[in-house]
Amino acid sequence: MLYTPIQFRNIKLSNRWVMSPMCMYSSENGMANDFHFVHYGSRSQGGTGLIMIEATGVEPRGRITNKCMGIWNDEQAEKLQQIVNFVHSNSESKIGIQLAHAGRKGSTWNNIQIPVEEGWETLAPSPIPYHPTERIPHALTLEEIKTQVQNFKEAARRAVKAGFDIIEIHGAHGYLVHQFLSPLSNIRTDEYGGSFENRIRFLIEIVDAVNEELNDNTALFVRISGTEYAENGWDIESSVELAKILKQHKVDLVDVSSGGNIHGAKIAVFDGYQVPLSSQVKNKAEVKTGAVGLITKIEQAEDILQKGDADLIFVAREILRNPYIAVQGSFEMNENCFFPHQYLRAKISS
Ligand code: FNR
Repeated sequence: MLYTPIQFRNIKLSNRWVMSPMCMYSSENGMANDFHFVHYGSRSQGGTGLIMIEATGVEPRGRITNKCMGIWNDEQAEKLQQIVNFVHSNSESKIGIQLAHAGRKGSTWNNIQIPVEEGWETLAPSPIPYHPTERIPHALTLEEIKTQVQNFKEAARRAVKAGFDIIEIHGAHGYLVHQFLSPLSNIRTDEYGGSFENRIRFLIEIVDAVNEELNDNTALFVRISGTEYAENGWDIESSVELAKILKQHKVDLVDVSSGGNIHGAKIAVFDGYQVPLSSQVKNKAEVKTGAVGLITKIEQAEDILQKGDADLIFVAREILRNPYIAVQGSFEMNENCFFPHQYLRAKISS
């Protein structure tokens, strides 16, 4: 199944390998540069079905660090377009971008909060810091929530103009959207807090606003944390309910990760540890899902698809080690996969 195509709207992925979004902390003023061009371009030469550009801030305060990527202005989008154009004209890969706002987890370096003078005032649904030693984030007003939804919408418009095939909204890992979802980080008493319906409202408004910018030539994914491993926190049952609603709002795939919102949460990490979360979301909500987390082997990836636990395989650290994992798998399994025509002699061993 790894080399069976799959379609989202008009976007056809030629295989199920996805380069998972990974911050590279290598941008100045949110701009992509030569490093990103080679970094993403090389995964396209490795046959990856979908390349997902790292968490990209929808506004300057939406970055985790001041070296993170951004798409809050046209210049940033034009630079990203060069990567999109290369991928489209030199491979069979599709390319997506993860739109993000770090919220209370912004203004950091090496996971440590940096002073407001060197960074910025952080934002959140409620004045609760991620870690007790961090400064208290500014709780967004209703007007400011509207502005943030608009920021995602405008970022999506730029991404569509740049030619991206997929937009992914970052709703996981304790960043702003996740902060709204969780009753542990969102204690608002207005229509954005309290009940499940209220806590998911911010994400649903972003989904609807982003969808207004999309047509059938750009599909929409949402990454969530399937659980945050905390008592009374966001859990797998909430994730299944959310996924059903996302499907009604024209989300094409739910990319199921976990954790990130609760400092010190205990996470049991083992091969494919998040696959059961993907499986539950896929089978209970009847949506397409992506599985991610310690998927490092070709047979393991195939097995996840065969068992019906996911539709796409997101690979992060392993694809840093091996940009050619998709092409390598196709050689091993005797399947068709894009391979640069310039490299064809490598298919003949003698
Ligand atoms: C990540 N991860 C991540 N996730 C995300 O949704 N957006 C991001 O920008 C990042 N950034 C990032 C940077 C780096 C260097 C790593 C290693 C990871 C998480 C990543 O996409 C993936 O979910 C996890 O790494 C688990 O998958 P692997 O590494 O076990 O395949």
